[in-house]
Amino acid sequence: MSVIRSVVRGTGSYLPQKVVTNAELAQQVDTSDEWIVQRTGIRERHIAADGELTSDLGRAAAARALEDAGLEAGDIDLVILATSTPDQTFPATAATIQAELGIERGAAFDLQAVCSGFVFGLATVDAHLRAGAFKRALVIGAETFSRILDWEDRGTCVLFGDGAGAVVLEAVPEAKSEGRGVLTTHLRTDGRHRTKLFVDGGPSSTGTVGHLRMEGREVFRHAVGMITDVIEDAFAATGESAATIDWFVPHQANRRIIDASAQKLHIAPEKVVTTVDRHGNTSAASIPLALDVARKDGRIGKGDLVLLEAMGGGFTWGSALVRW
Ligand code: UT7
Repeated sequence: MSVIRSVVRGTGSYLPQKVVTNAELAQQVDTSDEWIVQRTGIRERHIAADGELTSDLGRAAAARALEDAGLEAGDIDLVILATSTPDQTFPATAATIQAELGIERGAAFDLQAVCSGFVFGLATVDAHLRAGAFKRALVIGAETFSRILDWEDRGTCVLFGDGAGAVVLEAVPEAKSEGRGVLTTHLRTDGRHRTKLFVDGGPSSTGTVGHLRMEGREVFRHAVGMITDVIEDAFAATGESAATIDWFVPHQANRRIIDASAQKLHIAPEKVVTTVDRHGNTSAASIPLALDVARKDGRIGKGDLVLLEAMGGGFTWGSALVRW
């Protein structure tokens, strides 16, 4: 049996029109632009309009990724949506996006790993493509975290934003891949930490959606170690290193976590793609959003070695190395 690689064909993203600055938030809760910038690096975030759903954001990002890939909806046979803010408890929001894009074959499902969702989704798509089960896949990260925030809790409401990003991957025989594709993925979960970042509602517990709750300092304390561990695993599996990667595209939660992780791994600052200042933390959408920004502004190009990582609720965390 020939070896298959999952090769990136295109990227797309979508941000809601409305931008909310730190100064605007400071009119609603006891905070300041200075505190938010100093502690997180965030300056502004996008917030979905009334009636604008996660499926709307995800569909727009996916349509742009398809256009970028030069493909039609009918070329796609697998849609995985990473989200913690689905339109409804069921059906999967991926099914809505699939239908609205006009995809009529294959499978579509949601995947829930909070901020690590895109890396978990990429790993899942990669496994399905390499197994020969599907040919071309969309992996989407889309979130409307504004809907699950407690807008009176200054410790969390200043951190998050809404948005979506998408990547199209294609199964390509290794001999024709030119060395491109997903090289390795490493996923971890440790549910003992599940109460440090969670939503206090759900269908089987309260029958409500609930609000995001976080012990920020505790999450911060674990983040850098978990992120760097799983990146070391990616380097060990491939023989690559901080010196050989071209771009580091981390989950965008906090500028201090990103900088500390890059520093610990000896990744040069000019290789780090950062969008947290303009997007805030968009959870599962943050990596595909940042990938699309860095692709469209000409930084990430064909053949580049791109390192991805994320960490979030669960705790979940993971890394991926992709030859673009
Ligand atoms: O993507 C999922 C993963 N999530 C994350 O990665 C988030 C990880 N955590 C963080 O990024 C940081 O812990 C935060 C940005 C959430 C907080 O930064 P920190 O440096 O850990 O601050 P802290 O929680 O230790 O709070 C310091 C002070 C507290 O006041 P006291 O107790 O020192 O008087 C807070 O009450 O800052 C206060 N504070 C604020 N002040 C102004 C908390 N939130 C705010 C705020 N504005 N928005």
